[in-house]
Amino acid sequence: MNPVTLIQRLPKAELHLHIEGTLEPEMMMMLAQRNRISLPYGNVDEIRAAYNFSDLQTFLDIYYAGAQVLNKAQDFYDLTSAYLKRAADDNVRHVEIFFDPQTHTERDVEFATVIDGIDGALQDGQSQLGITYRLIMCFLRHLSAEAAMATLEEALAFKDKIHAVGLDSSEAGHPPSKFASVFDRARTEGFLTVAHAGEEGPPAYIREALDLLKVERIDHGVRCLEDPALVQRLVDEQMPLTVCPLSNVKLRVFETLGQHNLKRLLQRGLCVTINSDDPAYFGGYIGENFLRTQQALNLNDADIHALARNAFTASFLSEADKQRHIAEVDRAMISL
Ligand code: HPA
Ligand code: ZN
Repeated sequence: MNPVTLIQRLPKAELHLHIEGTLEPEMMMMLAQRNRISLPYGNVDEIRAAYNFSDLQTFLDIYYAGAQVLNKAQDFYDLTSAYLKRAADDNVRHVEIFFDPQTHTERDVEFATVIDGIDGALQDGQSQLGITYRLIMCFLRHLSAEAAMATLEEALAFKDKIHAVGLDSSEAGHPPSKFASVFDRARTEGFLTVAHAGEEGPPAYIREALDLLKVERIDHGVRCLEDPALVQRLVDEQMPLTVCPLSNVKLRVFETLGQHNLKRLLQRGLCVTINSDDPAYFGGYIGENFLRTQQALNLNDADIHALARNAFTASFLSEADKQRHIAEVDRAMISL
């Protein structure tokens, strides 16, 4: 069976996607002009040439600078719409996307502006492209717990539009424990929780995310293999890992895709999913992540099938919707 056809045809869910990370150089230039913002780049080639990262922090510096072109609700709308159209080409049926309000409110862009633009595009994407969605608000972990708490309080006015909270940005030195009380409050307010852990940070951060933040999923989590007892716990709990292979290579978590541990994670019985993280910066959307990983690790049909099913299982969809999508995944496998 041709894996290229199989991967293209499979219905997909994307669970680890930063909407600010879908800002393609062309849109960055367009928004800079529209908002009269000067960029340190003359053209899209210069922007692309700057995307040579040595670790998470060197990426984040460029990523936060790029996000400055996002100012009006229309900008957030255009960004989100472009992502959804691209996702539809990869046969994505459901998305759970992150946004970083603090990247914008710190620049005096109103919380409501960010939400209106993103949520408006998500609603239109559902009616026009049939892509269902959940929105996840991330706290920037390099900022204080007090700043995160203030952001959570601001978000309460938009509770109906935000399903879960997460934790992103510079991992090392900013353990989940720093945000335990913020996440306690978030859960009390009815939000589900997820957290980036075990991308650059140690397995102990994954344990903290489970024990202190009571997360439903671990974002990345690839460093869990350094701690066999933790792996056993993740298997027993079927705790989903939202793995982002091309991101991990760009940020040098693994030197090459061939050295990525995704296949070992799958073989160990973990609930692994494939996602694109920040596709405009890391060189590929979800389909490309599937394809390149399949080729580099020689994933077989059963691996691909499990990855596609896991994404729906690990989603925040209702049980009935999960089963409907999974049945469709199973049919796509058979009909080839
Ligand atoms: N890790 C942490 N923070 C992020 C990432 C990531 O991969 N992408 C965007 N913010
Ligand atoms: Zn991420």
